[in-house]
Amino acid sequence: MHNDDSDTGAGKTSRRRFLEIMGKTSFFAAFAGIFGGTVRFLLPNVLYEPPTIFPVGVVDDFPPDSVTFLEDRRLFLFRRPEGIYIVSSICTHLGCNVKWDSAQAGFDCPCHGSIYDKDGQNLSGPAPKPLSWYELVLTGDRKILVNTQREVNKDFRLQV
Ligand code: FES
Repeated sequence: MHNDDSDTGAGKTSRRRFLEIMGKTSFFAAFAGIFGGTVRFLLPNVLYEPPTIFPVGVVDDFPPDSVTFLEDRRLFLFRRPEGIYIVSSICTHLGCNVKWDSAQAGFDCPCHGSIYDKDGQNLSGPAPKPLSWYELVLTGDRKILVNTQREVNKDFRLQV
């Protein structure tokens, strides 16, 4: 005599119950996917990028004939008798912070040994191009604003 649970009433009930649960689960999963996709579509795609125009201080924060490393901005601010200018500290090889070497009057990269002159022109090592210089603007209350979207030539000086 063959005895299979699937042929019994209890077996049919549990299979039917299983199929009902699976059907409902699939329905709710599909509904949740569609609902989630709709909600995501309604939310804006916001990119949290740092601003490209920002203040770095007022003129008097920087003594005459000084070099200041603005670590959080990855910039060197030079205040010279002929004016103020700003140079990126981001090495053009792989992005390490270069260091200002006042004795050599130039920049050195500690990562792979690139050397730049006082204007950020690459001289040796793997760096493929010079350091970037950015536009500066002086506000009425003597704040210095940097615009990292606008690169300038190495003769740029902000008159203060
Ligand atoms: Fe500066 Fe490689 S990151 S030399």
